[in-house]
Amino acid sequence: MIPTLEWTDEGVRFLDQTKLPLETTYVLATTYDEVATVIRDMIVRGAPAIGVSAAMGMALGIDRSTATTVEALTPEVEQMAAVLAGTRPTAVNLFWGIARLKDLYYKLATETVGRPEADRLRTIKAGVIAEAKQVYTEDIDTCKTMGRVGQDLLPREGTVLTHCNAGALCAAGYGTALGVIRAAVEAGADIHVLADETRPYLQGARLTAWELLQDNIPTTVLCDNMSGALMRQGRIQAVIVGADRIAANGDVANKIGTYTVAVLAKEHGIPFFVAAPWSTIDVNTATGDGIPIEQRSAREVTHSNGKQMTPDGVGIENPAFDVTPSKYVTAIITERGVLRAPYNESIAAMTNTQTAV
Ligand code: MRU
Repeated sequence: MIPTLEWTDEGVRFLDQTKLPLETTYVLATTYDEVATVIRDMIVRGAPAIGVSAAMGMALGIDRSTATTVEALTPEVEQMAAVLAGTRPTAVNLFWGIARLKDLYYKLATETVGRPEADRLRTIKAGVIAEAKQVYTEDIDTCKTMGRVGQDLLPREGTVLTHCNAGALCAAGYGTALGVIRAAVEAGADIHVLADETRPYLQGARLTAWELLQDNIPTTVLCDNMSGALMRQGRIQAVIVGADRIAANGDVANKIGTYTVAVLAKEHGIPFFVAAPWSTIDVNTATGDGIPIEQRSAREVTHSNGKQMTPDGVGIENPAFDVTPSKYVTAIITERGVLRAPYNESIAAMTNTQTAV
């Protein structure tokens, strides 16, 4: 599998997801500002991948700083965190990745007090680079664990619907919802994936279809308005999606259109699963109503491939995400285990546990 992003000596290299599936090209970010642009422009996207990118952006900014003292570097670190935090508001993994690197920075700054400044800076730079690489490998391990934890929930034979891209491309690798599908297929399940096209960015049609076909997992793309009809015909056995933020009560923010699919699934008695790393759970946000929803530009809706699709002057809405109330969620698959309602209790109970083996 082609890596979504990677740390290199030249900077952070991103697979350009705006160009897939027709072109496999890369963007090299050599400053934290460029990493911020890559996240904002959705060259990299998907909650876990955004978290890893933010961690790498922080490490890159600290490593490339020309500050000669820790005292001079500290305000720069705060500035890097603010710029990266201003990119996309919904995926909580962004803030998690920034906080993880910032916390390490302050820990190392404190631990090295009294040593020569050059020595302190060397220690801090080596430490944050190692941490960013660690965040990357942990993300792949987390996805694989989620796959092992959740694969039994999917049918041994049947059709599974997914929305947006919650695959290797939304993470450092392997994927969250698609990771669970991959694990089920590796365990012998005969699964046909239905991928909602996911307007307007087409994460399903362009990205999910591309990466599943690379793994020879049979995949069919549906227009966003088709799944209800297929559910009614008994042609969908389960739904599995990722998440950008999960509130303390189990409400799930995910790509716009997820809520519609979840309501339809409940109406038809089809299980609706969410797969997400623990870093997507935001216990500080009580319910989905408190999750900020990113509004993206009207042009993403009015234009397709540079061609205008709507009349001049028409009103446009473009929320990137919606919230699915937890009553529609059959189970949430995490690397620590499977959460079930009441989610307040199951999340609280698993908060201090470790990754499932
Ligand atoms: O706008 P995007 O492409 O970043 O949105 C991505 C999604 O909504 C994914 O479903 C979500 O991040 C889950 S991926 C684990």
